[in-house]
Amino acid sequence: MRIDIISVFPEFFEALHVSLLGKAISKGLLDIHTHNLRDWTHDVHHSVDDTPIGGGAGMVMKPEVWAQCLDEILHLEPTNSTHTENEQTNFLANQHCESGEQNPTSSDNQQERPILIFPNPSAPLFTQQAATELSTASHLVFGCGRYEGYDARIPEYYRSQGVKVYEFSIGDYVLNGGEVATGVMLEAITRLIPGFMGNPDSIVEESYTGSNALLEHKQYTRPTSWRGIDVPEILLSGHHANIARYRRDVALEQTSVIRPDLIEKLHCSELDKADRKKLRSLGWEVSSQHPRKLK
Ligand code: ADE
Repeated sequence: MRIDIISVFPEFFEALHVSLLGKAISKGLLDIHTHNLRDWTHDVHHSVDDTPIGGGAGMVMKPEVWAQCLDEILHLEPTNSTHTENEQTNFLANQHCESGEQNPTSSDNQQERPILIFPNPSAPLFTQQAATELSTASHLVFGCGRYEGYDARIPEYYRSQGVKVYEFSIGDYVLNGGEVATGVMLEAITRLIPGFMGNPDSIVEESYTGSNALLEHKQYTRPTSWRGIDVPEILLSGHHANIARYRRDVALEQTSVIRPDLIEKLHCSELDKADRKKLRSLGWEVSSQHPRKLK
C-alpha cells in the first residue's frame, strides 16, 4: 500500500518508522511518503491559511495551496468543471446498512485509485469497518488540516473529479490538527493488511471485529496469583470449550455495561442459545431482530 501524508508538520510522522509500522515499511508492505504543504506555497511567508469568510475565530486552510499539492500527488490536471457526483454517502450508507457487505473499495477497480482522506472533527466517526474496507486499497492520501480546518470546497472539488474522498472524525473531541487523527487511522488500517501482523489470529478475536462485534474479553498472563488477585480458575482448566464460553460471557457482560449501543446492534439470529441466556440474565430481550434492554 502506498500512503501519502500532507501536513504542515511532516516531521510528526517520523514516529511511523518505529515498531510494527516500521517493520512493515522495511518489509515493503508499506510505502509512506510525507509532504510539507508549504512546499506548494508561492508567497514569502509560505502561508497556507486565511481568515474565515463570514467571520469567526481562527484561520482556515486555503484551497489553492491544497489543490496544487493534491493535483500533483493525485496526478490530476486543474479544472474549473465540477460535474461528477461522488458523495461520501456510498460508504456511509454501508456503515449504517444492515447487510452492508458491499465493499466500496473493491468496485470499479477502486483499489487501484488513490483514496483521499481528511481527518475532521465534524465528520462521521471512523470505525473498524472503515479501517477494514480501507485496508484493501492500494493508495491512500491523508490531508492533515490545522487551525479551524480546511476550505470545504477542497473535498467537494476532488469528489467532483471522481476521486473517492472520505472525511472522518476519530472521536467526539477536538484536536489541534489532523496529524494525530491520521496516525490513529493509519495504524488501524495498516495493521489489517495481510502480512502486517506477526500472528494474524490476533486480529480475528479483537473488539469491534465482525458483524457481531463485542468488546474483547479480559486477558491475563502469569503469575496465576499476583498481589492477592487470582486469575479466574476456569482459564487454568485446559477445557477449551468452557474457556471459550466463559470468555464470551465476559465479553457480553462487559459490552452490556460499557457499550450497550454495541449490544443493540447485535443480530439475535446470529446468537447461540448460551449467548441469549447470558443476555437475558443481563436484562436484554432477545426475541426480536436486535436485543432490546428491558427497563
Ligand atoms: N481534527 C481535530 N480534531 C479531530 C478529530 N476528533 N478527529 C479527526 N480530526 C480532527
